Amino acid sequence: MRGTRMTAADITEAVQRSFDGCPDARLRTVLQSLVRHLHAFAVEVGLAEDEWREGIGALTATGHITDERRQEFILWSDAFGVSMLVDALANPLPPGATESTVLGPFYAPGSPARGYGESIAEGQAGTPAWVHGRVLDVDGRVIAGAELDVWQNGDNRLYAVQDPEAPEHHLRGRFQAREDGRYAFLAVRPVPYTIPHDGPVGGMLAATGRHPWRPAHIHMIVRAPGYRTLTTHIFDAASEYLDSDAVFAVKPSLVREFVRRSPDDPERPAGADREWYSVENDLVLVPDAAAGPGRTA
Ligand code: BEZ
Ligand code: FE
Repeated sequence: MRGTRMTAADITEAVQRSFDGCPDARLRTVLQSLVRHLHAFAVEVGLAEDEWREGIGALTATGHITDERRQEFILWSDAFGVSMLVDALANPLPPGATESTVLGPFYAPGSPARGYGESIAEGQAGTPAWVHGRVLDVDGRVIAGAELDVWQNGDNRLYAVQDPEAPEHHLRGRFQAREDGRYAFLAVRPVPYTIPHDGPVGGMLAATGRHPWRPAHIHMIVRAPGYRTLTTHIFDAASEYLDSDAVFAVKPSLVREFVRRSPDDPERPAGADREWYSVENDLVLVPDAAAGPGRTA
């Protein structure tokens, strides 16, 4: 090679070839494609050395701020829409099935089992919201006994895992659908909140004029034997930020009206002692086999 100058294309080719002997065909495909796209990106934007150093600095800061309570790498994936892209690739669904969306960093396994209609709030946390519906299959048949693992933030905008003042199990719980497929629990009307933005992802949002807000939502994981586990949200139709979710996780099919109910409404559940809301949300699951590979939360 003496006497010839190496071009950008030569470098890309050499790095791709370095993986030719990779014995794992899938790993070879993924890494060669990653190198091809990464190099094409650097060429396309004419990546300058100080910009490259800044990128390395952001990755280094991401590593430093990440621990068992804070996962800044996933936050990058969320804020760049990669989490939703991977979700879309992994979860092709038949018509009528409830759509999935991001898990987010505030899920904590081990929520307490609570009875039909019980409250997830272990203290004042906002306006009561009665969440109810049925768990069904795509043919409209009820699925008895499905487990709903739910969590949400309170009117202080915090999840229990973020709030040192909150009881450990505040605003989360596991519910079982009845024999008739019905489930119900007392939540609070969720409020918009910001994704963690005091780290490198927040730096990127501020530098680019993007905001860190998520629209108001309640999280759910729905599990039933023989059906694909569903990780989803109920979004409040009246919330701000539905059109500009910081993590691109709003799907129109997941948006629901929270209906205002009066304190003397005969259907008022125990625990809704003043103004309250109700929201109806059927959940439609797909059989395991029909769904292909996917998440196992
Ligand atoms: C959440 O909804 O809890 C969430 C999702 C992605 C990033 C941050 C928060
Ligand atoms: Fe959330």
